Amino acid sequence: MDQLHAQQVLILDYGSQYTQLIARRVRELGVYCQIKPGQWAAESISDLAPQAIILSGGPDSVLADGSPRIPAIVFELGVPVLGICYGMQAMMQALGGEVIREGTPEYGPAQVNVLEGGGLLDGVSKELDVWMSHGDQVSKLADGFVTLAANEGTPHAAVGDIKRQYYGIQFHPEVTHTKEGGQILSHFLFDIAKLSKNWQTDRIIEQQIELIRKKVGSDRVLVALSGGVDSAVVAALLYQAIGDQLTCLFVDTGLLRYQEREQVESVFKEHFGMDLHVEDAGDAFFNALAGVNDPEEKRRIIGHEFIRVFDDAVKHLGADIPWLAQGTIYPDVIESAAESGHSEVIKSHHNVGGLPDDMPFELVEPIRELFKDEVRKMGLALGLPKSLIQRHPFPGPGLAVRSLGEVTRDYAAILAKADHCFLSVLQEYDWYDKVSQAFAVFMPVKAVGVKGDARHYGYVIALRAVTTIDFMTADWAPLPVELLQEASHRIIAEVPEVARVVYDITSKPPGTIEWE
Ligand code: XMP
Repeated sequence: MDQLHAQQVLILDYGSQYTQLIARRVRELGVYCQIKPGQWAAESISDLAPQAIILSGGPDSVLADGSPRIPAIVFELGVPVLGICYGMQAMMQALGGEVIREGTPEYGPAQVNVLEGGGLLDGVSKELDVWMSHGDQVSKLADGFVTLAANEGTPHAAVGDIKRQYYGIQFHPEVTHTKEGGQILSHFLFDIAKLSKNWQTDRIIEQQIELIRKKVGSDRVLVALSGGVDSAVVAALLYQAIGDQLTCLFVDTGLLRYQEREQVESVFKEHFGMDLHVEDAGDAFFNALAGVNDPEEKRRIIGHEFIRVFDDAVKHLGADIPWLAQGTIYPDVIESAAESGHSEVIKSHHNVGGLPDDMPFELVEPIRELFKDEVRKMGLALGLPKSLIQRHPFPGPGLAVRSLGEVTRDYAAILAKADHCFLSVLQEYDWYDKVSQAFAVFMPVKAVGVKGDARHYGYVIALRAVTTIDFMTADWAPLPVELLQEASHRIIAEVPEVARVVYDITSKPPGTIEWE
């Protein structure tokens, strides 16, 4: 096993919406971990040989028939185990304790009293602010366990078998509302499981560079830049590993953000000096989209056109590129509980801009073990500009799904300018990083306004800004009135085709984040 992965934590996923957050917290503390389904096979678990195991929460009740159980192997490996919420209850049940459904479910912020540190809660506040989310609770401890924390409604809020190093917590240490959650996880990893920190950006970069060199030798590698973070980081990493063996391809669909192509050229070609090919395909995309109003049809056409343009461009780059580097990241590859049937999470349905499986390439996926925040850290360490690294996500079909109905070159240009005004104002007011996604939407209808002394009919621009953890649900952002005022002034002043600016106050659900 390589040095970086020589020590690792296994997180078994019972379907909690927070499972990925647990993994991110563990990694932020400097320890490598992997998420696997809660019912992962015993041989796989023992082959992985984790130094510690964390059992996630989940939506099931251990009292229900058919609810997921903890594989027996977990308690045969002799490693520390931390059960969180459902994970704690299922562990108690497996080891001979009891779980009941009693009283009112506890959701949201709560306080628990720490009775004993037990290694896990050493040094935390005696009255601990925590985040609870459970209906069932432990009513009788398994042999060997003591209660470490309690409150009126939850008499066993944290428990531990100090000898065997099994711990359970009813609350969620991974969410920020549990203020000392980081310290609790840190106690588990370093004081109880005796792990050391080995998961750090510079070491991950060094290791990946070595792996890439070993894998591709002196071959050429192609990377398709999208303007987004993941492909940019892959390109920067590849360039450091193999320099001129790397060729970058960027398709300008005409549906990109304001001056996005120029930014890509300035960073990759001028700053890094990479071999960058830009395919100017705007005309092809707008021609293919002419007269098309239906959003799904627009998506289909763009996906199809993208593959066609990409294929053509690859042919021109020469036949001797055997490798394609892709920006697949960890959330795309987690063998989630959803696939083993225990999660309520709905997977994203979007894959426009993806490439078909039958391309004549072998794949290099150097960031497939990383979460988005780790990818961003890596990008900064590799010298990519912060403005690119901190960018909000942008959909594959680009401005086409933000210009309602038929999208034309003119509409896309108006939208790109209005969007740029809005995002610039968000930056000025320090709100860009506080929202998860923000953009303008173009409506091809005309409203009346007054310019000078004359009536003026112009288009309508809607502004959308949302906060979200996972993009599955989202809240509209309560932007300051002055910011909205400034955004409206700037758009009307700088984009003469626009007469009205409105702000979208629809959450998801019932709305979606995009308008189409
Ligand atoms: P919705 O609109 O479904 O968006 O609430 C959720 C997230 O997905 C992005 N999105 C897309 N991404 N191709 C993509 O690559 C698409 O067709 C697409 N549609 C929506 C959206 O920007 C948001 O981040």
